[in-house]
Amino acid sequence: MDARTAYVSMICGGDAYVPGLETLGRSLLETGTRIPRVALVTRDVSPGARAKLGAQGWRLREVEPIGNPRGDVLLPRFANVFTKLRVWELDDYDKVVFLDADTIVLQNIDELFDRPSLAAAPDFLLPDRFNSGVMVVEPASAVLAKMLARLPELMSYDGGDQGFLNEFFDWYASPPEHRLPAAYNTHQFIFQFIAAHHLLRERLLGGIKIVHYTVQKPWREVAIVGGSQLWWDVYDRVHPEQLAAWRRQLHALEDWSFNRVVSVLTG
Ligand code: GLC
Ligand code: MN
Repeated sequence: MDARTAYVSMICGGDAYVPGLETLGRSLLETGTRIPRVALVTRDVSPGARAKLGAQGWRLREVEPIGNPRGDVLLPRFANVFTKLRVWELDDYDKVVFLDADTIVLQNIDELFDRPSLAAAPDFLLPDRFNSGVMVVEPASAVLAKMLARLPELMSYDGGDQGFLNEFFDWYASPPEHRLPAAYNTHQFIFQFIAAHHLLRERLLGGIKIVHYTVQKPWREVAIVGGSQLWWDVYDRVHPEQLAAWRRQLHALEDWSFNRVVSVLTG
């Protein structure tokens, strides 16, 4: 694999997503990949968090935040997400795979570097739009400059980077190699449903490569739908010293109760 490749993720607006990035980092390591990991951080990410991520092998890269051009942000967590566009600024890499800090990787995904830019998987709600949590990108500052110029005028249907990027790139009309299978960006609820359903489990579970914990973050809230045992299994390998029996039981229970509902519904 080319030396000028990297897996890239980001934390901005403080340390809230550090557990996500640690878990993603660990999951990538466990796939046996040799491709380096780069974490984009904004200046408000604490020295302690940087030290933790650095020790785990993330190469830290400080970037300038990009404010949300819409004042009326739908969700508070979208206030800083446009900073993600800084991925295009990584001119010293030919190709990167961007992964949201709330994703985990279940098997080696190095084959993504054979995909053209921009490649991404469909969004869960709007399948004619791509989800911007997993993207194959060929960085080019000139592209970022064009994006920044269009920020004020292009509509973002979700008030975040995803809506903007879908206006900027005509992904749906692009050739098939640009459209990744959903297995590269599987919504946690869909993953949980597949895991709980006996027929789907047999046929689909082994093919899933990336799970995306969008909306409900395992380290921030107890799951109201589905569960997060899989995520905690990886997190506990990062932080065995925090391994709390009560927490494991709680998350096992979330999975168990959801699985029961699915098994009743699907016979
Ligand atoms: C969705 C995407 C995420 C993106 C956000 C804002 O939550 O999964 O990657 O940053 O929308 O557009
Ligand atoms: Mn996400």
